[in-house]
Amino acid sequence: MYCKVIPAIPAHVWPPDNENLLKFKKNILCIGAGYVGGPTMAMIASKCPDYRVTVVDINPERINAWNSHELPVYEPGLDKIIKKTRGKNLFFSNNIEKAITENDIIFVSVHTPTKTFGEGAGKAPDLQYWEKTARQILEYSKSSKIVIEKSTLPVKTAAAMEKILAPAKGKIKFEVLSNPEFLAEGTAINDLENPDRVLIGSRDTKNGLKARQELVNIYSRWVPKEKIITTNTWSSELSKLVSNAFLAQRVSSINSISALCEKTEADVSEVAKAVGMDSRIGSKFLQAGIGFGGSCFKKDILHLAYLCEYYGLPEVAAYWESVVKMNEYQQQRFIANILSSMFNTLAGKKICVFGFAFKANTGDTRESPAIYITRKLLAEQAYVTISDPKALKNAALDLADIEGNIIYEEDPYKAAAGCHAIAILTDWNIYKNLDFRKIYKSMIKPAFLFDGRNIVDHAKCCLLYTSPSPRDRTRSRMPSSA
Ligand code: UDX
Ligand code: ADP
Repeated sequence: MYCKVIPAIPAHVWPPDNENLLKFKKNILCIGAGYVGGPTMAMIASKCPDYRVTVVDINPERINAWNSHELPVYEPGLDKIIKKTRGKNLFFSNNIEKAITENDIIFVSVHTPTKTFGEGAGKAPDLQYWEKTARQILEYSKSSKIVIEKSTLPVKTAAAMEKILAPAKGKIKFEVLSNPEFLAEGTAINDLENPDRVLIGSRDTKNGLKARQELVNIYSRWVPKEKIITTNTWSSELSKLVSNAFLAQRVSSINSISALCEKTEADVSEVAKAVGMDSRIGSKFLQAGIGFGGSCFKKDILHLAYLCEYYGLPEVAAYWESVVKMNEYQQQRFIANILSSMFNTLAGKKICVFGFAFKANTGDTRESPAIYITRKLLAEQAYVTISDPKALKNAALDLADIEGNIIYEEDPYKAAAGCHAIAILTDWNIYKNLDFRKIYKSMIKPAFLFDGRNIVDHAKCCLLYTSPSPRDRTRSRMPSSA
């Protein structure tokens, strides 16, 4: 999960002294140093060298990691930007009180997981981290601030935030903006540098528009003006949920078709290509496989469905919930395919998992389909070897509660040796171009390949069974020699 070694900043750099503060045109703070807060602030610091950007977190280990040789987040290209900015105009700190006091523009980028308890459990967002942050801002502010929601939040959260901030003393005023982040993990730096759009929601009041302009000024340092769109706060909040819901819906739609393809002579890759070439539909997010993971899609669709239920729209809620159900079905189908292909028993068999991250180019495993699939394999009493270039530490944490036979091995050739089957669960490039002939020789026969991301060129692959591509059903036994 860690990225390349970059020099740690000397301990004395934070906190900067007041003289240092005055050197900068603006002082920006981000509360929450996660996958969104860290890279986004690094990009702002890099594009606005005259702004001082501080990132704080309640988790001291996270901050220490941001200040160390090994960043807490693996993201291609991030290390370069951190190297350029850290200790110059980008600072990571645990001192939340001091940071709130000193900064005028505050991004809030704390996580909003799905509630696991009480009313709305399993659907509604858990807003405790966000509310705590709002109360901290109120408590420590000694001057007026612009507060910007970066985290994905339910519609009307800004209104709730305004209510919490309303009791501010004297002349202190807070203006709350919504500025959802659309970066995808693994491509975060490019997404931040060349966004399709930047969305800023504000109140249509004099102060609201003034605050909005402050944010426009930051982004217009590198984002073309026509790509910066402004809306009312609620439209901005809802657009983020809807964008993620639409993307996830495409994945579930093509996955539903993959099930039909497997029953017929159609090939889902061919169907996706033919359908995606219609410019009205487009080719992206039509890659069939074991389904979507990540911290956003499931959570945001469930938020959306919960909102619909709250506003008395059960049919709309059910429509969006079906996107999540289709995702779960796809993973269940994948396991069922493995079982039936391997003679309905996995007990004592060795299965090698290629990829544990929820997608390629990240070490993040949140909601990764690999978690569900590996747990199912272990429940069938299989022996599992997990391989991944960046996610092995997170995989071990995800499976820490399990008493099973698990081995972690980064090298895919070593991981596959002696196994009965390989299951590709993440679309890492390295898995596309492996020497499968060599791998086949090292495996127990008949050897199986379950291509959960549909990424291997099956014509070149001598392993026998692949899924979900139906063409390969005809080759569902491995050749006796490679
Ligand atoms: C998503 C949104 O893309 C991003 O705009 C938002 O800010 C956060 O949520 P992310 O979760 O990082 O980003 O990754 P994304 O690239 O959207 O992939 C999500 C999941 O869908 C992954 O598990 C991926 O493997 C899967 N996926 C994606 C498919 O199964 N098929 C596809 O065709 C595309
Ligand atoms: P995301 O993917 O949205 O960035 P992460 O979980 O990676 O989510 O990051 C959210 C960060 O917010 C975590 O590092 C967490 O410790 C931090 N956080 C949560 N609540 C607070 C708080 N009240 N003050 C400061 N940081 C917080």
